[in-house]
Amino acid sequence: MEYTVKTLLKEVNSSYKHPGDERIRAISEHLIEQMYNTIVKFDVSHDEMWAFLKWMNELGKANQAGLLAAGLGIERLLDILADEKEKQKGITTGTARAIEGPLYVPGAPLEKKFARIDDGTQKGEVLIMEGDVFGPNGERIPHALVEVWLADQEGTYSIINPAQTPYNNRRKIEADEKGHYGFRTLVPPGYSVPKDSPTQKVLDLLGREGNRPAHIHFMVSAPGYEQLTTQINMPGDKYIDEDFAFATRDPLIVTVEKVNDPKMLAQYDLKEPYAHIKFNFTLHQG
Ligand SMILES: [Fe+2]
Repeated sequence: MEYTVKTLLKEVNSSYKHPGDERIRAISEHLIEQMYNTIVKFDVSHDEMWAFLKWMNELGKANQAGLLAAGLGIERLLDILADEKEKQKGITTGTARAIEGPLYVPGAPLEKKFARIDDGTQKGEVLIMEGDVFGPNGERIPHALVEVWLADQEGTYSIINPAQTPYNNRRKIEADEKGHYGFRTLVPPGYSVPKDSPTQKVLDLLGREGNRPAHIHFMVSAPGYEQLTTQINMPGDKYIDEDFAFATRDPLIVTVEKVNDPKMLAQYDLKEPYAHIKFNFTLHQG
C-alpha cells in the first residue's frame, strides 16, 4: 500500500470498523489533521517526534497533564467560553469563575460554619476569611457548601504532597442558616511549577516561567444552584499579572485587612495581628 500525506490522513481518519463515539471521533479527526499539517509545515524529524513522545510519557508518569493544560491556558479558555455562553443567555451577575487547577482532590472533611483548616504545624501570618453565599436575586443560601483548598507555607498541597498531614488546608465548610461561612488558615504564598519536571522542561523551551501568584481555591454549591468553581487572589503578589495558568481575574483580587484590635485577637485566641478577608459568593440558578 502506498500513501500520500493526503491519502494517509484520510485512511487514518476513516479506518474505523464500528461507529465508536461520534463526537470523540470528530474531535480526533480534526486534531490529527492539525497534527499532520504541523509536522509537514515544520518538517518535523524522526528524532523530534521520538523526543516529543518520550516527553509525553514523562508528563503522564509525573501526573502533570492537568498542570500543562492550565499552563497552555486551556482551563481559562473553557472559562471564557462558559462566560460567553452565560452572557448570551443574559446572565451577567454572579461571582466570576476561575480555574479549578490540577490540585483539587475530593473527600475533604466536612465542618460546619467555621473551621480552622491548617494543621498548626507551620508558622505564618494567620488568615481569617469569611463571607456569605447568595443566590442570583440576593437571597442568602442557607447551608451552602464552601469547599476550599490552598497551598501550605512551602507552596505545596496536601495529598499531592504526602509529607503534609492528609487534607491539611482542604475542607468542606457548610455555611450556617444565613449562608455565612468562615475559616482560619495561614496567608498562602505563591508557588511554581516543580523544577526538573516535564512541564518545566517545556516552559524552558518556550522561554516561559511557571509562577502562580498566591491564591485560594473554592467550589461553592447548593441544591438548585449551579456549582461555582473559582479562586481568589491575594493582592500585591508580584506575579499577579504573570500567572502561569492565566487565572487572575480582577473581581477576584480581594482586599486584605490587617487586624490588631485586641478584642478581635482575643476572639480567635491570637497574640499577633492577623489578616482578614471578607468575600461573598453569588451563585447562579441551576
Ligand atoms: Fe493552586
